[in-house]
Amino acid sequence: MKFIVQPGGSLTGTVRVPGDKSISHRSIMLGSLAEGTTHVSGFLEGEDSLATLKAFRDMGVSIEGPDQGRVVIHGVGIDGLQKPVKELDLGNSGTSMRLMSGLLSGQQFDTTLIGDRSLSGRPMKRVTDPLALMGAKIDTTEAGTAPLTIHACDTLKPIDYDMPVASAQVKSCLLLAGMKAQGKTCVTEPAPTRDHTERMLRGFGYPVQTNGSHICIEGGGKLTACDIDVPSDISSAAFFLVGASIAEGSDLTLQHVGINPTRDGVISILRLMGANIEVLNEREVGGEPVADLRVKSASLKGIRIPEEYVPLAIDEFPALFVAAACAEGQTVLTGAEELRVKESDRIQVMVDNLKILGVDIEGTPDGAIIQGGKIGSGTVNSHDDHRIAMSFAMAALKADGQIDIDDCDNVNTSFPGFVDLAANCGLTIKQEN
Ligand code: S3P
Repeated sequence: MKFIVQPGGSLTGTVRVPGDKSISHRSIMLGSLAEGTTHVSGFLEGEDSLATLKAFRDMGVSIEGPDQGRVVIHGVGIDGLQKPVKELDLGNSGTSMRLMSGLLSGQQFDTTLIGDRSLSGRPMKRVTDPLALMGAKIDTTEAGTAPLTIHACDTLKPIDYDMPVASAQVKSCLLLAGMKAQGKTCVTEPAPTRDHTERMLRGFGYPVQTNGSHICIEGGGKLTACDIDVPSDISSAAFFLVGASIAEGSDLTLQHVGINPTRDGVISILRLMGANIEVLNEREVGGEPVADLRVKSASLKGIRIPEEYVPLAIDEFPALFVAAACAEGQTVLTGAEELRVKESDRIQVMVDNLKILGVDIEGTPDGAIIQGGKIGSGTVNSHDDHRIAMSFAMAALKADGQIDIDDCDNVNTSFPGFVDLAANCGLTIKQEN
């Protein structure tokens, strides 16, 4: 499927983007391991979180829905999962694979986790190495990638692990494995990363101690079912924050967006660039901060992006590259080498695609240098990456001609209904099969 997007237009109105992907995954995982029935609303019905849902069904958990974002999970308790009859296919979803590796390491049965072409190329040693220190037995390819076969293991040893990369997936994997370890498992993060796992574990009554960058969990506890209201995903809202900022005459309100401080880097970075974003009606929903975001067009200027914001906006850089390409002056990104191992090599793919549209951009090992100016027209390719596809759809708002984006089926992994929602706000977009 491809997107065909006409240049110009503005984004206006009030919309709600789909539910947070990270929180949706975790709601299925913890709800499945809980005692009792967990009711989820606002669940993201995208392919990634549905892959997690299906995997837990395949391990014997009875899950109703999703029906308009509602899911009912009949938890089986921490020791209640059953051996799946075949391998678990996690599609494109790195979060499913990395978190489930931890969760399945202490089970009494073997499991094999597989994924699509993109996921099968992504580094898994970052989770299998520390899990091996805990005594887990996991086979990977020689390159340290999926398929992963996780062997049954009676006892996991607790570890105190200094994480070499700032990764919420690694942290969460080890905390989930830590529930099955005999003693206290701790991780130290080199920089703050999203803390949805810690928040949700506490919501399910499982204590987690956070002391600055040191996070610990004691094995042998239990989870008690609870209700979860999933906020809208700030990573999906990000395309609209950028689109409305660059498109003249825009005034758009995004409702019920999760603004967890470990995720709000995109707001900080855009504001540094001169964006006009108001955070309204701040409230707390099920342990997560939520707000409505009102964004109006603004003249953006190029900046040096502070490195401390990078992990807090890690999924938003494809959209932020588009903002930088439309800004006045130079934007410099450093400290973002993690972008090279996402669903695509996001530095290379953004550089190649923006060059096709005539943007002056240079990639560096850990970021890019982007000269703001004009965006031209042309055909770009998402390279198996949903966030690349949606970022270029927004680029059309400021382009001087039509932008065609090839290979856009992957948008359904995180943002079902993107085309309709974007069109309702004012983007002239259509999809072609
Ligand atoms: C996620 C963590 C991040 C992010 C991903 C979702 C999560 O990955 O890029 O989209 O839900 O924990 P890393 O932990 O690899 O940075």
